[in-house]
Amino acid sequence: MIIAIDGPAAAGKGTLARRIAEAYGYHHLDTGLTYRATAKALLDAGSPLDDETVAEGMARKVDLAGLDRTVLSQHDIGEAASKIAVMPAVRRALVEAQRRFSEKTPGAVLDGRDIGTVVCPQAPVKFYVTASAEVRAKRRYDEIIEAGGGADYDAIFEDVKRRDERDMGRTDSPLKPAEDAYLLDTSEMSIEAAFQKAKSIIDAAL
Ligand code: C5P
Repeated sequence: MIIAIDGPAAAGKGTLARRIAEAYGYHHLDTGLTYRATAKALLDAGSPLDDETVAEGMARKVDLAGLDRTVLSQHDIGEAASKIAVMPAVRRALVEAQRRFSEKTPGAVLDGRDIGTVVCPQAPVKFYVTASAEVRAKRRYDEIIEAGGGADYDAIFEDVKRRDERDMGRTDSPLKPAEDAYLLDTSEMSIEAAFQKAKSIIDAAL
C-alpha cells in the first residue's frame, strides 16, 4: 500500500502522515527532509546553492534512514531547500530514493509536494492537504510561541506566501493536486477530523 500526501507548508500534512503511518503500521517518509538534508549538506560544506552538479552529488549521498527534523528545521535550511528543489537533477536523485522507500512492506506513507503527481502516481490513495495562507502562518506562529521562541506573524505570513509561489510556480514538478487526490482543507477542520476523514477513505481502499 502506498499513501501519497501533498500540500503546501504548514497545512498539517506531516502530522496527518505520521498519524496514518502509526495507525496502519506503515513506514513514513517526510520527503521535505530529503531536500532539507541536501541543502544542509551544501550549506555546511560552504558550497554554492546554484551549482546543479554539486547539489546533485549531495542529493545522491542523502541517507533516508538518518533524517532528523530537529536538526533540519531551521528557517535558512528550508529556504535553501526550496531553492535547490527547482533543480531537475536534484529532484531526479531524490525521487529515485523516495521511490525505493515507497516499495517498503506492508506499506508506506510519503508526504511532500509531488508524491501523487510524480513520485508515486500509481498510489491507490492520494490526499491533497491544504489550508488558507493566513491559517498556515498562524499555525507556524503558534508553534514558535509555544516552543518559547519569538515570532513576527507578518514576516511568517510573507514567508508562507513566498514559499507557495516558489513551490507552485516552478517548471519541474510544481505543487498541485493530482487529478485523483482527495482534497482535505484544514482551514476550519482539526487535524483529528482530517485524520478520521482520511481513515475512512483508506479503509474503503483496502
Ligand atoms: O516540507 P518542507 O518545508 O520540509 O520542504 C522544504 C522544501 O523542499 C519545500 O519548500 C519544497 O520546495 C521542497 N520539497 C519539494 N518536493 C517535495 C518535498 C519538499 O520540492 N516532495
